[in-house]
Amino acid sequence: MNDYELFVQGIKKLTGIDLSLYKEAQMKRRLTSLYEKKGYKNFVEFLRAVEKDRDLLNEFLDRMTINVSEFYRNAKRWEVLQNKIFPKLLEKNKRLKIWSAACSTGEEPYTIAMVLSNHVPFSNIQILATDIDENCIQKAKRGVYPERSLAEVPPNIKSKYFIQEGPFFRVKDEIKNTVTFKKHNLLSDPYDKNYDLIVCRNVMIYFTEEAKDHIYKEFSNSLRPSGILFVGSTEQIFNPSRYGFEVEDTFFYRKI
Ligand SMILES: C[S@@+](CC[C@H](N)C(=O)[O-])C[C@H]1O[C@@H](n2cnc3c(N)ncnc32)[C@H](O)[C@@H]1O
Repeated sequence: MNDYELFVQGIKKLTGIDLSLYKEAQMKRRLTSLYEKKGYKNFVEFLRAVEKDRDLLNEFLDRMTINVSEFYRNAKRWEVLQNKIFPKLLEKNKRLKIWSAACSTGEEPYTIAMVLSNHVPFSNIQILATDIDENCIQKAKRGVYPERSLAEVPPNIKSKYFIQEGPFFRVKDEIKNTVTFKKHNLLSDPYDKNYDLIVCRNVMIYFTEEAKDHIYKEFSNSLRPSGILFVGSTEQIFNPSRYGFEVEDTFFYRKI
């Protein structure tokens, strides 16, 4: 086994995270720059240190998960969700089961709640939001963001659902209360069933083909017939019918 393979094996034992399911060149580049900055010579030396030092383990986790997010990321897609996808889903059922998978620091599930609140009362909104990274989940629960995270938020939504606190913006409780955050690893944890909508954006790009294949199959099993999978704006599914999906709109797939 080479240096990186030994590291991958050690991290799996230590954390349960299987780095071999993430694209190798990208992951190696990110982690090499971290261990070099910390003064280690190779992956195995870094692994020995991570095994003993909780803070270093957290830094490693922080580096391997890329947490960038923002509200209304790729705003045009959220218009499609609001004007086409939600009205269709709500025809059958006024209380949708929704999952924001790999939600990072919460901008995505809160955006879903803001968009859905145009159609139904808050009491009908219940969103599960998950991520592998506990630090992200803590920040998401706090719900306080710098102004740059709100760059794509429509002005009326900004004044309606955020409270400015100096240079930061706090999401109002009526939105916060619609989202439940939980830790979940898309590569190894079980998936719940009967979702009307799964939003999973800007994480598939980091995974190997094998990992993506596993996750798309799981998503398909987790959706109700006619349920929708909403993916990131560089993440078209190459062969959707393989997973029992058909294209509903660009970056939206319907379970057949
Ligand atoms: C770039 S962010 C995407 C955030 C949000 N979905 C968006 O589009 O703005 C990627 C997120 O995927 C999470 N992630 C990485 N590997 C994961 C895994 N195996 N299971 C669940 N989440 C994972 C990271 O912790 C990170 O928060």
